[in-house]
Amino acid sequence: MNHHVPVLLAESTNLVITNKTGTYFDATLGFGGHTSSFLSQLDKNSKLVATDKDIDAYTFCEEKFANDGRVELYNAAFTEIRNISLVDNIEGFDGIFADLGVSSFQFDNKDSGFTYREEAVLDLRMNKTVGAPAHKFINNAEQEEIADVIYNYGEERKSRLIAKSIVNERIIQPIETTTQLKMAIQKVVPVKNLNKTLSRVFQALRIYVNNELEELKDFLGKAVDLLKTGGRIVILSYHSLEDRIVKEFFKYQALSCVCPLEVPVCVCDKESRLKILTRKPIVAREAELKSNPRSRSVKLRAAEKI
Ligand SMILES: C[S@@+](CC[C@H](N)C(=O)[O-])C[C@H]1O[C@@H](n2cnc3c(N)ncnc32)[C@H](O)[C@@H]1O
Repeated sequence: MNHHVPVLLAESTNLVITNKTGTYFDATLGFGGHTSSFLSQLDKNSKLVATDKDIDAYTFCEEKFANDGRVELYNAAFTEIRNISLVDNIEGFDGIFADLGVSSFQFDNKDSGFTYREEAVLDLRMNKTVGAPAHKFINNAEQEEIADVIYNYGEERKSRLIAKSIVNERIIQPIETTTQLKMAIQKVVPVKNLNKTLSRVFQALRIYVNNELEELKDFLGKAVDLLKTGGRIVILSYHSLEDRIVKEFFKYQALSCVCPLEVPVCVCDKESRLKILTRKPIVAREAELKSNPRSRSVKLRAAEKI
C-alpha cells in the first residue's frame, strides 16, 4: 500500500543536505518518504532525528528504519525540538525540514475522521491523546466562535451562515460524525460549491483542534535557534495561512534593522539571522502535478542560517 507520495522530494533533499556527515531534523516524519531520501545522501556517521504526532506514522517508520542506526524517532510534536536536542545531546542541526499538514494516509483513512468523504467520528486530531476532538468544539462553542474559526482558518465567506446551521442542527441532535457535519453544511451551501466549502471547513477545524498555526510559529523560532551557521531550514506548506507565516518569519529573520524609517541611525540591536534562498517559493512542476495531486498547492521556502 502506498501510504503517501512525498512532494518536491529532489528539491527538498538538495536544499536540506549540505553536509554528508551532519545532523538533521525531519519535523514531520509521516511515512518516511523525505527521511529516506535524506538518508540516501548521508554517510554512516550522520544522524537524523524525526518527529511525528501521529502514532500510525511513527509505528510504521519505527519498523521501516529499525535497522538504520543513524535514525532516532519520536512520537511527539515538532515543537519538542529543543527538548529532544537536549535529551540527545545535539548542539545544533545542519538541516531542519518540515512538510506540513496531514499525510495522504491520514486523509484517506476512513477512521481518521480527516475527510468529509468518509463517515467517521468528527475528531481531526493528529494525536488522539492530546486536546479535544472537533465534535466537542462543534457541540459546545458559541455560534460566533465557530464562525470565527471557519472564517479565520478556512477563509470561508459563508462562515456565519454555516455556524448558524451547525447550531440549529446540534439543538436537535449533537453532531458527532463527519457525515452529520456535512449535512448541516449542505443545508446552507449550493451543491456546486459544496466540496470546496467542505474542504475549507474541515481544514479550519483541523487547524483549530491541532493548534497548527501557533505550533508552526513556535517551531520556527526554536528551529532557527538550533540551526548551525550555514545550516538550512526548508518548509513545505499547503495553504496560504501556513505559507504566510513561513514567509513573514523568514523575512523578519533576514532583516538586520527594524528601526522606523524616520530614525537616521540604526538604534535597534536586530541582527540578520537568515539568508533567504527562495525569493519566490518553489512549486511543483508539470510532471509532478500530473502524477501527485497533493503537489498542487505546495510552496517550498528555504533559508540558511548566517
Ligand atoms: C505531509 S505529512 C509528511 C509526509 C512525509 N514527508 C513523507 O514523505 O512521508 C505531515 C506529517 O506531519 C505530521 N505532523 C503535522 N503537524 C505536526 C506537528 N506539529 N508535530 C509533529 N508532527 C506533525 C502529521 O501527523 C503527518 O504525518
